[in-house]
Amino acid sequence: MGSIYKKSLKLFMVAGLLLVFYFWRPWSCSGVDIQPRRADPIQTLLDGKTGKILGAYPDIPYHIKEEVASRLAQNTCVCLADEETFHVPFSDLLFPRVGANNLAHAFLQNNPHSEKIKNHRAQEYNSFQRRSYSPADVLIVAEANSPLQYPTQGVKVQPLRTIIIPGLGLKQKKRSEYMVYLNATLGTFDVAATVDKVSIKGLREKKMTLSSPQLTALNRQLQFVTYTSTVFHPRTADSIQFGTEGYKSFFTIKVEQKKIPKLYNSGYSDEYNITALVTIATKTFLRYNKLEDLIKSIRQYYPNVTIVIADDNEHPQRVTGPRIEHYIMPYGKGWFAGRNLAVSQVATKYVLWVDDDFIFTSNTKLEKMVDILERTTLDLVGGAVREVTGYTATYRHTLSVEEGGEDGDCLHIRRGYHHVIEGFPNCVVADGVINFFMARTHKMLEVGFDPRLSRSGHLEFFVDALGSLHIGSCDDVIINHASKIHLPWSKTGTEKAYDKFRYSKSNGGMKLVEEIFYFKNRFKCTTSPR
Ligand SMILES: *[C@@H]1O[C@H](CO)[C@@H](O)[C@H](O)[C@H]1NC(C)=O
Ligand SMILES: *[C@@H]1O[C@H](CO)[C@@H](O)[C@H](O)[C@H]1NC(C)=O
Ligand SMILES: *[C@@H]1O[C@H](CO)[C@@H](O)[C@H](O)[C@H]1NC(C)=O
Repeated sequence: MGSIYKKSLKLFMVAGLLLVFYFWRPWSCSGVDIQPRRADPIQTLLDGKTGKILGAYPDIPYHIKEEVASRLAQNTCVCLADEETFHVPFSDLLFPRVGANNLAHAFLQNNPHSEKIKNHRAQEYNSFQRRSYSPADVLIVAEANSPLQYPTQGVKVQPLRTIIIPGLGLKQKKRSEYMVYLNATLGTFDVAATVDKVSIKGLREKKMTLSSPQLTALNRQLQFVTYTSTVFHPRTADSIQFGTEGYKSFFTIKVEQKKIPKLYNSGYSDEYNITALVTIATKTFLRYNKLEDLIKSIRQYYPNVTIVIADDNEHPQRVTGPRIEHYIMPYGKGWFAGRNLAVSQVATKYVLWVDDDFIFTSNTKLEKMVDILERTTLDLVGGAVREVTGYTATYRHTLSVEEGGEDGDCLHIRRGYHHVIEGFPNCVVADGVINFFMARTHKMLEVGFDPRLSRSGHLEFFVDALGSLHIGSCDDVIINHASKIHLPWSKTGTEKAYDKFRYSKSNGGMKLVEEIFYFKNRFKCTTSPR
């Protein structure tokens, strides 16, 4: 009995020691760094400092320039509809106007829980801001005539690694002793080498002071100052305070994991090998005859390219053939869910999105889309869709967001584009394009398609992509739209069922878009072409 007891006691102690070793690491901090560093002392100091600098000279008068001042963001955006200046038949067609939608009103009115929803949105937004905040975003102003020399940007360290801080120095008139100090919040200081006649306090601590009777010795020592990140965070920054008697400066060290690339090995060839570079993705619902025409037309021009089909029909039919991947989904899962599924299966560098009722022609030159994606920084490029009537659409849109304070921001949707792309006279930069586009697969997966948008949805993807995708549109890559505009009484049974499902005027669809814009994207209102 006794020996068993002793053995288990020993085992217990060894396990305990191992645990201590496992968790104990020199300089490490046990918590997960999730705290906002908004109210940290550096921030408070900075606020006071910049406030003093920016608020100086109160007694010198100035004259506001309205035309410039009105362009500055004031955090008080509004959504205004264009007024109808005169009314004639078809005036909306001749003079397109902008309409406004007050989402807060439309989504919250008649909702018994409107206050709770508002609070919940505010909470979610707070934690989003906390997660996306970086101390590197803080405004830093360098004061006039500081004797301190330091790096203003470009200093980077990997989490828990050590670097030499480049560029530190002091330029001061003769005095008996020279002193500088450094302090940090997410790391510690040390020196990679020591210099005679320099005394250092606070090695391996968050605050280090260096002093010497010789300025040259001190400056030599400053060339060896190191910074070690001690709090693990894959992407943040530390604000460093660097000062001497009577002077303070701030700079940031970015704490970042190395960005791991996602490269595609598409084989080497002199010309663009579309089979190796592109997968065509589509979603089908109730339109197998159209889908077959699409596949036939693709095979005519690109016999070996992979086609991925997401299908949420109630009674799925087999779609087979070489290099066709047919994914069956639960019935009626919807439009964006299908896009998500299809794109998630793409293994090539680029994915081409087409609707199931499009038809490839000799004008559908995928090489042109690949070329612009290869030669520019664009992530996504849209083409043009030719209707049966001969009308060709590019559906170019710009999206802009204005800050609106606590109630949410304003989203403004307009037809048009930002500018023509140099070297590609048929192409422009925009924020939203037509549903015939080619994109970098991994960038498209990063944005994703909100699977709740089941019946319709298009611009919602581009709203989510704002700020992360660089988008273009070229009107010389053209695909045909097979669907004729039928009169309702001449439609087949399947077509009627399709229209009923997709364009059903049930209020559910509209309410959902309002919720997505109001809650998920935190807009209070939108304006868009009527
Ligand atoms: C850094 O050191 C200075 C000088 O001792 C001190 O006034 C300041 O509060 C320190 N800042 C932080 C963030 O510790
Ligand atoms: C194009 O890529 C496909 C698939 O990777 C490959 O089988 C084919 O040999 C390539 N064609 C050329 C001309 O390199
Ligand atoms: C398609 O694949 C077939 C068989 O693998 C090959 O003979 C043909 O050259 C390919 N065509 C193109 C355009 O890559």
